[in-house]
Amino acid sequence: MSTSNRKIEHLELCANQDVESHRYDHNLRRNGLDDITMVHNALPGINIKEIDTSTELFGYKLTFPLLIASMTGGHSETRHVNESLAIAAQELGIGMGVGSQRAALEDPDLEDSFRVVRDAAPDAFIFGNLGVAQLKEYGVEGVRQAVDMIDANAMAIHLNFLQEAIQPEGDTDATDGLELIEEVCNKLKIPVIVKETGAGISHEVAQKLCKAGVSAIDVGGMGGTSWAGVEVYRSQEKGDSIGQSLGNLFWDWGIPTAVSIIESNVSMPVIATGGIRTGLDVTKSLAIGASACATALPLVRPAMNGSKDVKKKLELFMAEFKAAMFLTGSATIEDLMHAQIVITGRTGEYLNERGFDTSRFARR
Ligand SMILES: Cc1cc2nc3c(=O)[nH]c(=O)nc-3n(C[C@H](O)[C@H](O)[C@H](O)COP(=O)(O)O)c2cc1C
Repeated sequence: MSTSNRKIEHLELCANQDVESHRYDHNLRRNGLDDITMVHNALPGINIKEIDTSTELFGYKLTFPLLIASMTGGHSETRHVNESLAIAAQELGIGMGVGSQRAALEDPDLEDSFRVVRDAAPDAFIFGNLGVAQLKEYGVEGVRQAVDMIDANAMAIHLNFLQEAIQPEGDTDATDGLELIEEVCNKLKIPVIVKETGAGISHEVAQKLCKAGVSAIDVGGMGGTSWAGVEVYRSQEKGDSIGQSLGNLFWDWGIPTAVSIIESNVSMPVIATGGIRTGLDVTKSLAIGASACATALPLVRPAMNGSKDVKKKLELFMAEFKAAMFLTGSATIEDLMHAQIVITGRTGEYLNERGFDTSRFARR
């Protein structure tokens, strides 16, 4: 199957099937954010109307610390989806990533499905996207081509080895990945974000990425869209029983988002992605160390309907975020980053086993 056709198949599966990470218990969110409790402030001492939700990422202003996560482009039918997302990003003053630009490197006729994003969002913070496998194939020149295609403000390189391990056509040669990333960081003039796509980043990997010169980590943690789950549906359609079994077994594989945010704290901005479903999730992520969040799946259906629906969904995130800022007495993002929280349950146990002291959050 061509890269382009795979992109439209992914989008349709995500819109129509249950692809989230809760294979064995549909009431249980797996990203760990339900184990984070913001300590309520009964006397917040601020006026909700004066709360400032704006922040900066790489010097670009965001009215609200939420990005539209890398999703699509690369098929003519994805053009209107990207356009809807970009119009909303422009009007709300937030950032947006495009999906993997690999299809457009393979077929320049598809560039328009990405370029529409910059056309519709001339002032927004926009980041490009390629997989680490494409660095081997197209080199730094290919990355520059992707940057120029959308006049990108930053470039995301995605790591997707869970899905690759399950797809029969997957790229499972992970040798040289770090060296290739380091070369891109050295040669590209704009910030490089390394992002996982649903299995999270550990402290050890975060340290290696930091040394390689990466500008930010997008944790892409477990607990949101499961790409192993997506592969189960694709395997079913193809009658591939091995793919189906692998996808089911690894449906919830990975480092939960909440854990990965704390593990990736290695003195560079952390973007929290993976099951960010409400403005309260954004608040919690920032309180445990993220600089911004990104969300993908909740915007798929709205984006198919048009920019109005995307805006409506994002405005709900904003209202929820502001309410949580108010109830923790946080007048600014800086205040929120120091808000008191408690970490309990599996997330607390996981972090303690990994040697992270969670009690510091409640005492600051
Ligand atoms: C339809 C769809 C397509 C995606 N395509 C890409 C992609 O091309 N490149 C990438 O880095 N991540 C891609 N992602 C992953 C997201 O950027 C994100 O890391 C992941 O879905 C977790 O966020 P979520 O739980 O909010 O969906 C895609 C996600 C969705 C839902």
